[in-house]
Amino acid sequence: MDMYEKVIELARRRGFIWPAFELYGGAAGFYDYGPLGAPLKRGIEDLWRGFFVIREGFSEIECPTIGVEEIFKASGHLSGFSDPLTECKECGEIYRADHLIKHIVEVPDALANDEIYRVIKENDVFCPECGGDLSEIYEFNLMFKTFIGPGGKQPGYLRPETAQGMFVNFPRLLRHYRDRLPFGAVQIGKSYRNEISPRQGVIRLREFTQAEAEIFINPKDKGHPRFGEVADLVMTLYSKEGQERGETVEMTVGDAVARGIIAHETLAYYVARTYQFLIEAGLSRERLRFRQHKDDEMAHYAADCWDAEALLDRFGWIEIVGVADRTNYDLRSHMAQSGANLTVYLPFDEPIKEERLIVKPEMKKLGPLFRNKAKAVADALSALPVEELKRDPIVVIVEGEKEEIDPALVSFEVVEEEIRGEEVVPHIIEPSFGIDRVLYSVLEHSYREEMVEGETRAVLALQNRVVPIQVAVLPLMDRDELVGPAEEIARELRSLDMKVEYDSSGSIGRRYRRNDEVGTPYSVTVDYETLEEGTVTIRDRDSMSQIRIPRSEVSERVQALLAGEMAFSEAGSPLAS
Ligand code: ATP
Ligand code: GLY
Repeated sequence: MDMYEKVIELARRRGFIWPAFELYGGAAGFYDYGPLGAPLKRGIEDLWRGFFVIREGFSEIECPTIGVEEIFKASGHLSGFSDPLTECKECGEIYRADHLIKHIVEVPDALANDEIYRVIKENDVFCPECGGDLSEIYEFNLMFKTFIGPGGKQPGYLRPETAQGMFVNFPRLLRHYRDRLPFGAVQIGKSYRNEISPRQGVIRLREFTQAEAEIFINPKDKGHPRFGEVADLVMTLYSKEGQERGETVEMTVGDAVARGIIAHETLAYYVARTYQFLIEAGLSRERLRFRQHKDDEMAHYAADCWDAEALLDRFGWIEIVGVADRTNYDLRSHMAQSGANLTVYLPFDEPIKEERLIVKPEMKKLGPLFRNKAKAVADALSALPVEELKRDPIVVIVEGEKEEIDPALVSFEVVEEEIRGEEVVPHIIEPSFGIDRVLYSVLEHSYREEMVEGETRAVLALQNRVVPIQVAVLPLMDRDELVGPAEEIARELRSLDMKVEYDSSGSIGRRYRRNDEVGTPYSVTVDYETLEEGTVTIRDRDSMSQIRIPRSEVSERVQALLAGEMAFSEAGSPLAS
């Protein structure tokens, strides 16, 4: 069994994740989160909110998951959001063509369809199912199409990213932020992609959850006021140049910007926050890196992009987050599609003075020449750009007719104007997280097996912040005199909003093992000493060591342990195990 199989087997058996619609044979790319998976996912989303909503101060919004066609015309998804598809000429099996050459080309996304086909032919790649010949490659659009209302007249699409919700709401968000940049808005919600024949289990879903932040910035100001907070953070970077040499580097965020590896502070700041979030969620530092997109791999809207990649046992390095500089591509496209003004007026710190040439048509001379058209000719002259006014003769179109005008009929004047600000189309920096991939990576990176007393102990060393069960309460035996006090402790902890599992079935050893494999950090056990001396034991998942504490202090100690305010060894008197 490889790690994926072990983790997925555990996830299915213990109620984290399982294939959806099992009753009807399932469908590739759809999974359910069960009784432990749903709270784990919520825990990860709440940790994300802590980072991006609370600490960055970005507003969370919620938009429909179905969008009208115009949105996706503007975003480029309708014309360009597709993957290369190839079909087996023998058995008809369908494949994502670039995935079939991953072992030959490091970044196959960067290749054009005919290049992928050439690699397939030159390297004798055949159908993995039956060994048949593969067809030429064509593009398959990944958006799910539907119709809004009866009659099939208005097409709609299930959103392939949550980001567009923030873009089309730009004018309202700008008003909410009192017309100032920078500001950010986020969404956590479902996105849909009709992935070609997904074969990577929970990694490639057709319905998945994204957590995306869109940060609208002044294009002339790519510094970040809080950059100092992250400048000393060391991360593993795999830059475009590094990929040429197959070399990653360990570097501080500050150095990465100073050496021009990450283009600017704002992009680097969100790469760093992404790193911090992933570590707090439970990814292993050694199995996490940031890889820069190559120029020919970049999405149609991006100027630069760094992917957080997790190293997974079966799949290798997998993108779990993309941090992109989307420039002003999206707002410009929506301006062109909708006709709305999506600019911000940014006042200068100091008004600037600018000399401007204005034209003064001489009405005394134009009047006799053009009679009742004279006013229209004068207006047309005033509207001409300076270069046109320098021609001899000057040409204007008035009432559909071309008029030639002697430059002597026009005089110029230089005026000084005070300019107080400018209209700009903001640029957008986007950290885009795939929550399902983060969650799976957390499970795999947290999973370990060790031998204890001749048996394999499986442990999910989940972080306290995201665990589905924070504390298990266990009566030593299923007897009334122990069950009563244990239930009372469970009630007390729940009243303090802790996620508690009460479990009285099976031997105590088995119950500890069950909690270890779902990641419960602490177990409180009620035994006969509880009745006699008023004490309980607390067991630590990772070290398996136990301490004894007064019953009256259970809530306070467990809370302090979960918050990381107290070391386990200091929380009570040790118990020989
Ligand atoms: P891939 O190359 O793996 O298809 P992508 O480059 O298309 O991914 P993005 O478009 O950058 O991914 O999407 C942003 C994030 O959304 C990704 O980092 C990933 O975590 C998540 N994501 C994208 N597609 C899927 C999917 N089919 N299933 C689960 N998560 C996904
Ligand atoms: N919003 C980035 C993506 O989903 O591609």
